[in-house]
Amino acid sequence: MRVIELKGLILNAENWVKQLFGEDTSGHDFYHTDRVRKAARTIAEKEGADAELCELAALLHDAGDDKFHPSEEAGKQFVKRWLQKQEVTNETIEKLVDIIETVSFKGGNNRPPASLEARVVQDADRLDAIGAIGIARCFMFAGYKGEAMYHPELKPRDIITKEAYRQERSSAINHFYEKLLKLSELMTTETGKQMARERHQFLETFLHEFFAEWEGQR
Ligand code: ADP
Ligand code: NI
Repeated sequence: MRVIELKGLILNAENWVKQLFGEDTSGHDFYHTDRVRKAARTIAEKEGADAELCELAALLHDAGDDKFHPSEEAGKQFVKRWLQKQEVTNETIEKLVDIIETVSFKGGNNRPPASLEARVVQDADRLDAIGAIGIARCFMFAGYKGEAMYHPELKPRDIITKEAYRQERSSAINHFYEKLLKLSELMTTETGKQMARERHQFLETFLHEFFAEWEGQR
């Protein structure tokens, strides 16, 4: 009964976010959402989480992002209003909103430990920022913001392990150190951790190659 309820809703949500994200080129096109949704299903099935709920939350996870709304609260209400127009119980709405809040949550306040489903979707979203896709998104985003791909002026001695590395001006490569290289350690499900391992390795391989080529060493 509940699975049927969510299946119809998943289709509606897919159509809604396709319209919302349309031609976005800042890293939040529909395909980002679609990849998160597929990874969320993969993780949910392995972790024994509610796969339909995870898939639905993944589809909706960026619809209320504060990048597209005046505030986090406004974004949350936007998704909530859409859900209230669907044939879905209040209990399901509350669960979904809780997952989406966890995923877009920027840290700070004392939230209770997230549900398994929230952790699944959060891991799935983080996975899309690492590995080959993560690298592609990072350079797309930097281009979109008018940032450089790399500023060679400040060159760390050990580029891979240096934790404190910061560049004065932002660049795509800088973002690896600011965020991407840290994500694999932030995974909270076993399956997410496993999936992140190879993607993380790929980031390191990419950086080694990038700097070797930059110096004309290969
Ligand atoms: P999310 O999908 O978690 O909402 P963001 O909106 O923070 O992610 O970023 C979208 C994509 O752009 C991600 O892949 C992220 O790594 C990348 N990105 C974010 N900020 C920067 C930046 N300053 N430079 C390069 N890439 C960035
Ligand atoms: Ni996202």
